[in-house]
Amino acid sequence: MKLRTTLLASAVSLLPVAGMAADMTIGFSQIGSESGWRAAETTVTKQEAESRGIDLKFADAQQKQENQIKALRSFIAQGVDAILLAPVVATGWDQVLEEAQDAEIPVVLLDRTVDAADDLYLTAVTSDLVHEGSVAGQWLVDEVAGEDCRIVELQGTTGSSPAIDRKTGFENAISGHDNLEIVRSQTGDFTRSQGKVVMESFLKAEGGENICALYAHNDDMAVGAIQAIKEAGLNPGEDILIVAIDAVPDAHLAIAQGEMNATIELTPNMAGPALDALEAYFADGTMPPKWIQTESKLYTADDDNQAVYEMKKDLGY
Ligand code: AHR
Repeated sequence: MKLRTTLLASAVSLLPVAGMAADMTIGFSQIGSESGWRAAETTVTKQEAESRGIDLKFADAQQKQENQIKALRSFIAQGVDAILLAPVVATGWDQVLEEAQDAEIPVVLLDRTVDAADDLYLTAVTSDLVHEGSVAGQWLVDEVAGEDCRIVELQGTTGSSPAIDRKTGFENAISGHDNLEIVRSQTGDFTRSQGKVVMESFLKAEGGENICALYAHNDDMAVGAIQAIKEAGLNPGEDILIVAIDAVPDAHLAIAQGEMNATIELTPNMAGPALDALEAYFADGTMPPKWIQTESKLYTADDDNQAVYEMKKDLGY
């Protein structure tokens, strides 16, 4: 099934080849399992591949870029038809992406972007990460309605595109609002455990009564922070407002219970659009857009979060 010649480097169309999807072999380099969202993305990707008859070779990088680069080289050596890459950090991909391009293996980025020339990958399926941060910031601007608010920020993995872009978007949204100020900002590496540890240090350094809001770059860190806030004798969602990103079931539950205030949904189904794009590409040479954007929906206490929680749980999320 090697019809890749010239397709990646140029938009030359090829004759349609029937039945390509059914015998595709795709390598998937996943970051790891740092968050509930990540675990859901892995599950959905495996399900999507299975339902399409695709042989998915899965590699868990345990949060390390070097493991992802090794996995990509192994996929290239095995001669897979395409590669799905969820890149842990944004930089350092040029060489291995060039190797994939030389081997005429299209690479599709999932959920995060890279700092590399866009002809080195076929397409990127991601949300608008800056927009997510802006939505979170605007929600807080509206919520505090001009009151002074000292904010602590839990950043995602250092050097990852969501950590960079979600920070930028949030800062853009609060800039010009002198009542809002980020007083502490540190990475919690997108994990629940680090979210708790770092929030404990924020509470100790600032004093809980001096923190008005927490902005976490993902829900898992917010959930860890909620635990820290409770242990400090404060009421999360009331004494400290909490806005985060992902809309995993535990965040909906926390909002339903009044312990969190808002979350922005990131679909774990990046593989569906990615595999649609690859199938079309292999079928008749259709070039996808360089960016396939997924939606970002804001959930607040105005939504029926208990129902959404149950629905997502039923879906096995
Ligand atoms: O790249 C997407 C982010 O990575 C999710 O928001 C986070 O939960 C995950 O670890």
